Amino acid sequence: MSDAVSDAARGALIAAARDAATRAYAPYSGFHVGAALLLKNGEVVTGANVENASHGLTLCAETVAVARIANEGRIGDLAEIAIVGGRLDGDALTGGAPVHPCGRCRQILNEAAERSRTDIWVHCASGDGQAVNSYRLSELLPAAFGPKDMGL
Ligand code: THU
Repeated sequence: MSDAVSDAARGALIAAARDAATRAYAPYSGFHVGAALLLKNGEVVTGANVENASHGLTLCAETVAVARIANEGRIGDLAEIAIVGGRLDGDALTGGAPVHPCGRCRQILNEAAERSRTDIWVHCASGDGQAVNSYRLSELLPAAFGPKDMGL
């Protein structure tokens, strides 16, 4: 992974996250979140939020995406993530403000980032994909507790 954010790569990852968000299961909030993980081999794996009638059981988009790579034995292959959130207008995701990962998702991302030995880029984008804030995960979750503290 390079140290600089590549605009083209970031745009493609945000587009993948917007596409994934259209497939969220969000009948309660109507807020569709999509996450797209860029793996070290260039592959992109996505996830979207899955809500539940028992609201506290809702799964966030980032969690679903990380669970997918973990189940494939690839939790240590993460390079970057893009997150978008907004409401659907027909098939299009709308919304002008960047969405940032919730606290629980930051911790879950830290697990994959530490196992990947990478301070991953986290691209936080608006539903329309136009407004983007990019961070290193260590900025969003400083002094994290993680696998390294357990000797891994
Ligand atoms: N949500 C995510 O998917 N990721 C986050 O980081 C923040 C919130 C979802 C959960 C819920 O389905 C909806 O957004 C509204 O909170």
